[in-house]
Amino acid sequence: MTKKILILPGDGIGQEVTKSAVEVLNFVTEKFNLAFSITSLEVGGTAYDKCGSPIPDEVLKSAKEADAVLFGAVGGPKWDQLEWDDRPENALLTLRKELNLFANLRPAFLFDELSGASPLKESVIKGLDILIVRELTGGIYFGEPRGVIDDVKPNYAFNTMIYNEDEITRIAKVAFESAQKRKGKLCSVEKANVLEVSKFWRSIVTEMSADYPDVELSHQLADNTAMQLVLNPNQFDVIVASNLFGDILSDIAATLTGSIGMLPSASLDSSFKGMYEPCHGSAPDIAGKNIANPIAMIASLSMALRYSLNAEAISDKIDAAIKKFVQNGYRTIDIATDDNFLNTSEVSKKIINIIENE
Ligand code: IPM
Ligand code: MG
Repeated sequence: MTKKILILPGDGIGQEVTKSAVEVLNFVTEKFNLAFSITSLEVGGTAYDKCGSPIPDEVLKSAKEADAVLFGAVGGPKWDQLEWDDRPENALLTLRKELNLFANLRPAFLFDELSGASPLKESVIKGLDILIVRELTGGIYFGEPRGVIDDVKPNYAFNTMIYNEDEITRIAKVAFESAQKRKGKLCSVEKANVLEVSKFWRSIVTEMSADYPDVELSHQLADNTAMQLVLNPNQFDVIVASNLFGDILSDIAATLTGSIGMLPSASLDSSFKGMYEPCHGSAPDIAGKNIANPIAMIASLSMALRYSLNAEAISDKIDAAIKKFVQNGYRTIDIATDDNFLNTSEVSKKIINIIENE
C-alpha cells in the first residue's frame, strides 16, 4: 500500500532544512521507484499567522492518517507572548499526544572527523554513540492535576509527575529492545532517592530485566547522569528516562557532539508510525539566510524511511551518504573551522550527488 508522508516545515530554519530534506526524499523516491503520497502543510507560528491556530484541524487529521510526519521546527520570538493554546510549541505537544508518540528516540553520536567540534576533550568523547529513549506522552508534561491558583495567598502553581505501570512497561520495552540491537547496555534514569514515581519506575524496569538476560541493566539518579554524561559519556549505550529527565539529558547528550545540527530524532507509536524531527529548534537568529545545517533533518528523513516507511535499504544509503559527506570534508557553518562551508541548499545537492555516484 502507498505510504503517506506529511511534511510540516514549521517556522524559522524549519522551512529551509525541510526543503533540503524534501529534495533528498524526491530524489530517492524517483530513483528507487518508491510509492509515497506526500502532502505538505503549515504548522506552528506560520500556521497561526495564516489561520489563527498553530495546529489547524487539517494538520491533525493529515498527521493521524500519515505513516510518517516530517516535522521541521516551531517557535520564535514573534509568538512568545501568545497564550499557551496559540503558541507554536503547542502544535508539537498536541501532535505527540494525539498521535500517541510515546517513544522518543534521540541518538547522540559523533563522527570521528568532528571530534574537534565537541566541547569535551577528544580522549573523553571519541567514539560517542548513545541512544536516549525518552518517554514522550506522559509524566509531568501531561500529568493532571495541574494549574495556577491565584485566588488564595500566596498564589501557587503545580504540576503532577505521574506514570502508570503500562506507560513505564511500554517505554522500557522499546529501550530493552533497542539495547539488544546495539551494545546490550541499558541505563534507566530517575530520582528514586526522592520521588515515589521514580521508585515505582525503577521497580518495574528491574522486574522486566528478567526477560532480557542479554541486556546489562543499570540504574542512575538523574543528577548523576547529567554529571556522568560530561565526565565519561562512553559508559552509556542506551539510556531510558521519563519525559522531563529525557528532555534535559538529551540536550546535554546532543551538546556533547558539538553539532546539534547533525542529530535526528524519531517519535514512535506502538505500530511504528512516527514523527521525525531534528533535535535543533527553529533558530530564528539564522532563519532565512540559507546557512542552517540540514543534516539533522535529512537524517530524520532517513529514520522515517527505516522505522515507518519500510525502506531500510534507502535509509542505509542516506546514512552512508551523510557519513561520506563528513568524511570528504564538507562542512556547514555550525561545524566549519574556517570560511569554507556549504549553505543549506548545497548540502542536499551534495548528498544527492553522493547517493547517485556510489
Ligand atoms: C524538545 C523540546 C520540547 C520539549 C519543547 C519545545 C516543548 O525541548 O523536543 O526537547 O520540551 O519536549
Ligand atoms: Mg528539549
